[in-house]
Amino acid sequence: MKIVLVIYYSQSGQLKEIAQQISLPFIEEPNVKLFYYNIQIEQDFPFPWKSDEFFGVFPETFQQIPLEIIPPDQEILQQKYDLVLLFYQVWYLSPSLPINSFLKSSFAAQLLNNVPVVTISGSRNMWAMAQEKVKQLLDKNQAILVGNIALTDRNINLISVITVVDWMFSGEKRKTYGFLPLPGVSDKEIQASSKFGHIILPYLLNNSYDGLQEDLVTHNAVEYRWFLVSMDKKANKMFRIWSKIILKNPKKRRFLLKLFKLYLFIAIWILSPIVHLVETILFPIRYFSIKKEKKYIQSVKNANKSLYQ
Ligand SMILES: Cc1cc2nc3c(=O)[nH]c(=O)nc-3n(C[C@H](O)[C@H](O)[C@H](O)COP(=O)(O)O)c2cc1C
Repeated sequence: MKIVLVIYYSQSGQLKEIAQQISLPFIEEPNVKLFYYNIQIEQDFPFPWKSDEFFGVFPETFQQIPLEIIPPDQEILQQKYDLVLLFYQVWYLSPSLPINSFLKSSFAAQLLNNVPVVTISGSRNMWAMAQEKVKQLLDKNQAILVGNIALTDRNINLISVITVVDWMFSGEKRKTYGFLPLPGVSDKEIQASSKFGHIILPYLLNNSYDGLQEDLVTHNAVEYRWFLVSMDKKANKMFRIWSKIILKNPKKRRFLLKLFKLYLFIAIWILSPIVHLVETILFPIRYFSIKKEKKYIQSVKNANKSLYQ
C-alpha cells in the first residue's frame, strides 16, 4: 500500500479543484491511500481582496516571513508518506504566505523529511522564481523534488494582469468588461489535469521517479515563456529592494506601500512593454542561453543560487 499526502491552500477554490482532479487516479487505485491536508493559518486572508490588504501582504510575502499555522490533525502527522503532492499558488513572485509558513514550520520538517515531492503551482503566469524558492525550502526540509507542474493563465500577459486582478478583487471568475477572457487556469485545463495523476501514479507504484519530469513536460506540464522568466528575475531584484525599505520603515509603511503600488503600475504598463520590445530585438543574441534556461526551468534541478533564497 502506498500512502500519499495532498497538501494545498486555496482562496478561490481553484487550486483545490486542481488538487481534486490530479488526485483522482490515486483515489481510483486500490493500492493507494490518500490523505488531504488543507493548510490553515491562524488569521486567514480575505477573499475577495481589498486593495490595502492585497498590497499590504507584499513585504512579508516577498521576504518569506512565516505566520503561525494551525497544526495539521494528528492523523496526518502520524503517517509516513511515499509521496507528497504539494499544491501552491504564487504571491509576489514567491510561494504564498500560507504555503511559505507551512514550509518553514516544524510540521513540514516532519512530513517532508526524505519524502518524494511533486510540486503543482496554479498561478497567473509568473511562477518560475517562486519555484526556485520552493526548491530551497524543500531542500531545507530534506524533501526530494521529483516532479513539477505549473498551471497558469494562458492569455496574453497584460490581459491576465487585468483579469486576474479583477478576479482577486471581485471574488468572481468573470469576463472583465464583459469581453475579456476568463481569468486563471481555464476550466478545460483544470478538468484535463487528472492526466498528470495518471502520469505520476505508475512512478509511485514502481518506487522510482526516474524520467517522471521529462514525462510530465512531454504532456505540457511546464510551459516556458522566456520573457516572463526574464521579467520575473528583474522584478525579484526590485521587489527585494522595495520589501526591505518597507519593512525597515514601519512608520511610513502605508505611504511606502502606496509608492510601491504606483511603481508596480509603471513597471507593468510602461517599463515591461519597452523591455519586451528591446529583448525581442536582442533575442537572437540570447538564443542559446534562453534554450539552456528553458531546459533548467522545465527540470527539477536545483541550481542553488543564493539570489532566490
Ligand atoms: C497577493 C497576490 C499576489 C499574487 N502574485 C502573483 C505573482 O506574482 N505571480 C503569479 O503568477 N500569480 C500571482 N497571483 C495569483 C495567484 O498565484 C493565484 O493564481 C490566485 O491567487 C488564485 O489562487 P487560489 O487557488 O488561492 O484562489 C497573486 C495572487 C495574490 C492574491
